[in-house]
Amino acid sequence: MPGRIPEKFIDELMARVDIVDVIDRRVPLKKAGKDYKACCPFHEEKTPSFTVSQDKQFYHCFGCGAHGTAIGFLMQYEHLSFPEAVEDLAAAVGLSIPREAQAQAPQAGNTQELFTVLQEADRFYRRQLREHPQAHAAAEYLKSRGLSGEIAAGFGLGYAPEGWDHLLQALGADAGACQALERAGLVVKKDTSGYYDRFRNRVMFPIHDYRGRVVGFGGRVLGAGEPKYLNSPETPVFHKGREIYGLFRAREAIRREQRVVVVEGYMDVVALAQFGIDYSVATLGTATTRDHLERIFRFAPQVIFCFDGDRAGREAAWRALEQALPVLHEGRQVSFLFLPEGEDPDSLVRREGREAFERRLQQAVPLPDYLFRTLAGQVDLGRLDGRARLVELARPLLNRLPSGVLRQMILGRLSEISQVSTEKLSKLLINATKPPLIASQSRPQTGLRPPSLVRQAIALLLQHPGLAKDVSQAERLRELDMPGVPLLMSLLDVVGEQGGAANTASILERFRGSEHQYSLEKLAAWDYPGRQPDVESEFRGAMASLYRAWIKQRTEGLLRKQRLQGLDTEEKKELQGLLAEKHGAGKE
Ligand code: UTP
Ligand code: MN
Repeated sequence: MPGRIPEKFIDELMARVDIVDVIDRRVPLKKAGKDYKACCPFHEEKTPSFTVSQDKQFYHCFGCGAHGTAIGFLMQYEHLSFPEAVEDLAAAVGLSIPREAQAQAPQAGNTQELFTVLQEADRFYRRQLREHPQAHAAAEYLKSRGLSGEIAAGFGLGYAPEGWDHLLQALGADAGACQALERAGLVVKKDTSGYYDRFRNRVMFPIHDYRGRVVGFGGRVLGAGEPKYLNSPETPVFHKGREIYGLFRAREAIRREQRVVVVEGYMDVVALAQFGIDYSVATLGTATTRDHLERIFRFAPQVIFCFDGDRAGREAAWRALEQALPVLHEGRQVSFLFLPEGEDPDSLVRREGREAFERRLQQAVPLPDYLFRTLAGQVDLGRLDGRARLVELARPLLNRLPSGVLRQMILGRLSEISQVSTEKLSKLLINATKPPLIASQSRPQTGLRPPSLVRQAIALLLQHPGLAKDVSQAERLRELDMPGVPLLMSLLDVVGEQGGAANTASILERFRGSEHQYSLEKLAAWDYPGRQPDVESEFRGAMASLYRAWIKQRTEGLLRKQRLQGLDTEEKKELQGLLAEKHGAGKE
């Protein structure tokens, strides 16, 4: 794992990036007053309500409520994770990300070198498939598998020739180059000295990351042999538990189809694509992880898993189900397609064709059905103790579901089957498992109640960080016991640290992932009532009221202490000062 991205770097990035450029490159913007507008890329509309503010470095759609910073935009629009979005923006403005101290070896260092050598190896393997004297064997093999030349080229398939040092000869010019090849997993160090090619006499499937960079390979033997597939080992840029084969290539099709088919093998993805089912991906010979699913769900709300109909397939399906439960937020669907014995998507689509395969996809079993079908198969529903057992079996599974409509519906179904009322079930199911963090982070309703004084101050400061320079009594306000004040103070601290470079987005980024993220985003989009308010006097007014509240609170505290235990000299002086100030403030 790379180290954390330092906060200071995000500050710098936010100071360099212009959200108008970032969005305009993807969604052409039109200037409208001091903001920019476009039809919202996140919902269907005919008149533009998607607004980008250059001052705030923030976008907001008045139609669907989508909003965020440049980083947030890339996450939402390009389906990137936070670190990926940061990496993209950094690359666009020519910054490289310094990582915070890492536990692992210092040599983990230069990943760029790995990407370069992997790219060169990719080119090498592809060239061998066209040019190497023995390549006809590989080409014959691919042909025997029914692959068209076009689809093989589309997936970038290559050939690692028979022999121990073809790649080494081509790319291992010196010791440094050999080390890079080794770190990329392409060559293996010999016990004695020197290296040898990891992949020999295999058809090569390049594996691409979210940006289309080659991060590893899978190599298949031509015909029979062990292991059937040899994969790149884990490297600093290749993690099997995270990468998904075919996702980069399929991303547009997935967006169009609004669904993803997850299969088991490289060949399955390639064959499906050849038959026009170009929205399938595969895990790399590993069980599906939650990380995989989070990634896939960033592209489309519906995931269909294809598994063999045999026992191993059913076991894999069940593991996938367990991984999927925690990420089944509102609107996401998972279903399972079990293939006939002895078939995989590759063989089936070749035998039946696209339409029949897509019909099977339509009939895939929804996750809740699969869940209950499987559990019901393990108990005798005709018996009271069988139904009780069903509830017990379902309990740990349902507890993994985030709260929401789906959970309620599944609970309803369990109630029907077990003949236990939903109220009783809810009680039975509650245990120490807290709903996952994400659920509690879901956006608060967008009520239009006017924000409290503190929230107004927060909104103004967030939208106009320059106002921070007018705050004089910050240290005293820090003691004010009032909801929202600690947040206001952290905001002031952040603006203080970021100095002149602070803008709405740079502040928001400091609160990403905190409990305040969503309320701050809402305040960033909030329009102050009355068109062009004099923000400075509004802010000064709000801060003065807060300061008066502090005086009142402190005075009352001291008076109480005076009654109960008396005050020391310092405190007496302070009280006198406060009373005078309160008087003065009142007279203004
Ligand atoms: P399968 O054994 O189902 O192979 O492995 P397949 O995809 O149908 O392959 P073909 O059709 O015989 O060419 C499914 C996936 O499991 C991983 C690979 O990712 C493969 O695509 N696997 C399989 C390995 O990593 N190593 C192996 O030796 C076998
Ligand atoms: Mn197969």
